[in-house]
Amino acid sequence: MTITDNRLTIQSAMRATFPQVEERVARFYQMQEYHLGWRDQTLAPAASDPGKLIRPQLVLLACQAAGGDPAMAMPLAAGIQLLHDFTLIHDDIEDDSATRRGRPTLWSLWGLAQGINAGDGMFVIAHLAIHRLSAMGVPAECTLNVLRRFDETILRVCEGQFLDISFEGNLNITPDDYLAMIERKTAVLIAGACELGALVAGAPANAVAALATFGLSMGLAFQIEDDILGIWGAPEVTGKPRAADLYRRKVSLPVVHALACAAERDELARLYRAGDPDDAAVERCLAILDSADARAYCAQAAQAHHRAAFAALAQLTPPADSPAAAAVTHLHALATSLIGRNT
Ligand code: IPE
Ligand code: IPE
Ligand code: MG
Ligand code: MG
Repeated sequence: MTITDNRLTIQSAMRATFPQVEERVARFYQMQEYHLGWRDQTLAPAASDPGKLIRPQLVLLACQAAGGDPAMAMPLAAGIQLLHDFTLIHDDIEDDSATRRGRPTLWSLWGLAQGINAGDGMFVIAHLAIHRLSAMGVPAECTLNVLRRFDETILRVCEGQFLDISFEGNLNITPDDYLAMIERKTAVLIAGACELGALVAGAPANAVAALATFGLSMGLAFQIEDDILGIWGAPEVTGKPRAADLYRRKVSLPVVHALACAAERDELARLYRAGDPDDAAVERCLAILDSADARAYCAQAAQAHHRAAFAALAQLTPPADSPAAAAVTHLHALATSLIGRNT
């Protein structure tokens, strides 16, 4: 399996987890398939943006880097991506987001109640995907361990979403608070993709730990870069509205930094307290963030986490010219491609 063709294979494994159902409940699954990019708004088959599929690629590469057969980890790759997509369906409700991957969000088309329920369905399907590891020959004890770590990870993601939502309107958030939040909401799932891939390979504890640390550091960098895109990203590339995090008054890292350092921090705090901002208020916030060099500060913070990720990856020492060594090289390239990403 090559890196270039595995996006289709991953999606086939995700598809294979959906049950065959009676016509009366077909729309429940079709709404989920809409979110995944497989159907359009009329629920007819389509091929829209399924997302970058970074987490399932990490599962497969981590499994191979740890000496395993990535084909055996395919149900885990599918389960991790389905879980990620479940978090996005609920996140768009929690964040009141009308657009994701350049299309209307599930809840904005079919309402909050169906949005929550469709997300719940995908949460369960993600688990069912991982149960399929046993059919791939993964020992039952390993599958159970992976499921336990998967569930522990999801609980931490929910803690992260709790913190993120609680931070709204709180202008006393410190960089430490912020790190504790993004570690949970984003980094632990990226760490989990790497850790669980290595577990399926039956890797020794030190290799599992090195891959988990690699994923965690990369995940912290990934969310800081998402915060940069949430303010300065180009809508036609990100598929999200311009300056969305400022309109939503998110206390993301650029804002945490400006509230601590900007000369006009009192004005920024006033703008953030004043209720839903209009376009002029958002332009003023952007100017204050610029004067505090918030974008460069965040880019540097992300780079520091990327460096920590590369240091963790360097702890893996697979035999030269082995498939494991090739996977480590791919992991390095994947992490490098995410530095300063624009989507
Ligand atoms: C978006 O994740 C949510 C975050 C945790 C930052 P991605 O940027 O991986 O989203 P897709 O799946 O590629 O759309
Ligand atoms: C996404 O966080 C984290 C999870 C979905 C768990 P954000 O709310 O910052 O991500 P986007 O910007 O909507 O993709
Ligand atoms: Mg969001
Ligand atoms: Mg959110």
